[in-house]
Amino acid sequence: MTDNNDTSDATPEEEGRVPKRVIGTPAPSGTQELVPRKEPADTGGAYVLDERKARNAERVAAAFFGLSFVGGIAFIVFYAVWPGHVGNIDRATRSNYTLGISLTLVLLGIAVGLTIWVRHLVTTPEIVQERHAISSTPEDRATFNQYLQEGSRESGLGQRKLLRRTLLLATAPLGLLPLVLLRDLGPLPEKKLRHTTWKNGTRLVVDGTGLPLKASDFNSPGGIITVVPEGAEHNLDEIATGAVLLLNVPVDLLKVKKGRENWHVGGIIAYSKICTHVGCPAALYEQTTHHILCPCHQSTFDALDSAKVIFGPAARPLPQLPIGVDSEGYLIATSDFKEPVGPSFWERGRTKA
Ligand code: FES
Repeated sequence: MTDNNDTSDATPEEEGRVPKRVIGTPAPSGTQELVPRKEPADTGGAYVLDERKARNAERVAAAFFGLSFVGGIAFIVFYAVWPGHVGNIDRATRSNYTLGISLTLVLLGIAVGLTIWVRHLVTTPEIVQERHAISSTPEDRATFNQYLQEGSRESGLGQRKLLRRTLLLATAPLGLLPLVLLRDLGPLPEKKLRHTTWKNGTRLVVDGTGLPLKASDFNSPGGIITVVPEGAEHNLDEIATGAVLLLNVPVDLLKVKKGRENWHVGGIIAYSKICTHVGCPAALYEQTTHHILCPCHQSTFDALDSAKVIFGPAARPLPQLPIGVDSEGYLIATSDFKEPVGPSFWERGRTKA
């Protein structure tokens, strides 16, 4: 007698346990795969290229490597004959354009050449990789070695001498490019760091207005103002080295160094504004203590005592600019600074120009 409740022989479909197919998805099939498997052509394990097309692709890729080589040489030539100079915007712009375009050729040539090589000359066999234990067995390693050798053969690295050589040719100047950039370390500044644009008779003009300043206009004790050399008000390079801090300090408190007796005008005294530590503008002045402070690392200079360092990392005083007045009463420099302005540098000990 058959038990009607026994369902052990029922198929999954009959039991309603098989999920129904979602509309739009492929029909279930025992043989269907996500990626159709293609059997490689029976060529004895080698993947054969259309040799005529391969030769064409090889020539085009080689041409791009050649273009890259030309770009590399052009970069070096442009760098040597057309160096950009600080303070000359036109030359710097031309230099940037030519260097940028030639470097683009170098990188573009190599990138396009490699792309053509990979797209047209490297075969792409389908590889099925089985899951395996984490540590490779000796057999796996042997297989890997075999794949490696096949990969080398398929890429044509061994056979395509033209490509190999032109790629080497293209990359050779690329390796040298960082070397020519070392040129930016030079040339040596020679005497440039020892002099500013100040000279005997140069009027002191107020920074920002360009107006010359009379001693009689700067007569309030505790006064402070930034002045620059007349004629260089708009030259950033010269202002960068020639900016001066003009102070009006009580003349009876001044400790005038020997030989500097006539470097001030009734207590109006001028110091370089460029901090001797690393070159920040030292422009904070404490009227009560007569200290000049640099905000960067707190170097402090004594305005009454030749701006000598009384605190902080600066190693030497702010250079003093000798000043006087001309026949019309305007403040003038009576010479350039007697020592280099700005941060100390490798020849600091030899201060005589
Ligand atoms: S730059 Fe002035 S203290 Fe450092």
